[in-house]
Amino acid sequence: MTPRVDQDELKRTVALAAVDLVAASLDAGQIVGVGTGSTTNHFIDALAKLKDRFGGAVSSSVASAQRLAAHGVRVVDLNEVDAIAVYVDGADEVEPGSALVKGGGGAHTREKIVAAAADRFICIVDESKVVDELGAFGVPVEVVPMARRSVAARLRALGGDVRERRGFVTDNGNAVLDLHGLAVTDPDGLEARINNLAGVVENGIFAVNRPDLVLVGSPDGVREIAP
Ligand code: 5RP
Repeated sequence: MTPRVDQDELKRTVALAAVDLVAASLDAGQIVGVGTGSTTNHFIDALAKLKDRFGGAVSSSVASAQRLAAHGVRVVDLNEVDAIAVYVDGADEVEPGSALVKGGGGAHTREKIVAAAADRFICIVDESKVVDELGAFGVPVEVVPMARRSVAARLRALGGDVRERRGFVTDNGNAVLDLHGLAVTDPDGLEARINNLAGVVENGIFAVNRPDLVLVGSPDGVREIAP
């Protein structure tokens, strides 16, 4: 009988594969972009062991910045760097064309900003995140607090059900609405449509900024999905 490999072990395996990949091309002085979440935490812990081989990290969240700093990694502001060599982050869903849903941790706005600023985006997931079509997880939407109600009504008009993350405030001081019950058949179109609603800061569909490479951890090893 094949031994059961737990999800966190798969997250760690894929994170270590990403560190190997990044380390192979990293030059002294280069900046690494770092995402948010439990998979990325494994990446941070392993990357930190190489901290003398690169210039520092731009973080996508307060939580990841604190973890990096606790390991002694230099954390730099995005506005202080000329380039980010590579951005590494997890995801909540990945479809075969490499479009993602992110934002389970509510950090998707800063994640998208850092991903967009990076020369290369590597997404790291365990196999439970791979889906045929995005949508079952829901689409997290960061909203300016005064627009919670008006944006929720507009999102419902798209055909989904909207739930507010009560008691949750993003690193940017905003609220998060989760749009459920909508199959994301056109990730590029829905990403743009949601972001066009007044009061929306950013949504968790990464179609325009889809990763250059997805590494998937499974009990059989790490495989790649490229768009
Ligand atoms: C946070 C994210 C995370 O990358 C996503 O939720 C995956 O998290 P985890 O690695 O803990 O499964 O988008 O906003």
